[in-house]
Amino acid sequence: MTVREIVRIGHPVLRQPARPVPPQEVGAAWVQSLIDDLIDTMRAACGAGLAANQIGEPVRVCVIEVGDNPRYPYKPRIPLTVLVNPELELLTDEVFDNYEGCLSVPDLRGVVARRVRVRVRALDRHGAPIDRVVEGLSAGTFQHELDHLDGVLFVDRVTDPHTLATWDEFDRRHREAFVHRVEALVARFGS
Ligand code: NI
Repeated sequence: MTVREIVRIGHPVLRQPARPVPPQEVGAAWVQSLIDDLIDTMRAACGAGLAANQIGEPVRVCVIEVGDNPRYPYKPRIPLTVLVNPELELLTDEVFDNYEGCLSVPDLRGVVARRVRVRVRALDRHGAPIDRVVEGLSAGTFQHELDHLDGVLFVDRVTDPHTLATWDEFDRRHREAFVHRVEALVARFGS
């Protein structure tokens, strides 16, 4: 159980497409301890998710969890989810404007268009298949984490740079309108 250092934008490992875990190795000690470190590091940093590249390991593993999160108090809960070799399928063209932040991009937020419904297929930490449709704001969280495994950061997807804001300016100027939009989304999808 180790809280690892989170690498920051500018480090090439964040831009490196992560390599798949050989399925027969999911139970191996190196994968299990990587998963434990991701969970500990995500929780210590109050993140909603963390991908292995963000702790310097370009391997297709990420974790997602939203409880009572002080960084994102408006986010609906997502129970701890470990995704090994996840694949994303976009189930709709409909998008919503998500104001995103990232532990690897300190003190910056920006609006990214995310699909409202996606399908995620992966293995869990025991090697059992996961096949889940994720909707609403939670779908944005999954898309953000899976992007990391392809070497993509949210700043790459910000279509209007005028939306970029520090966390302080987000709270001061953009938060209220965003939370209104989020509430409508969560009311519609329940997630
Ligand atoms: Ni991130």
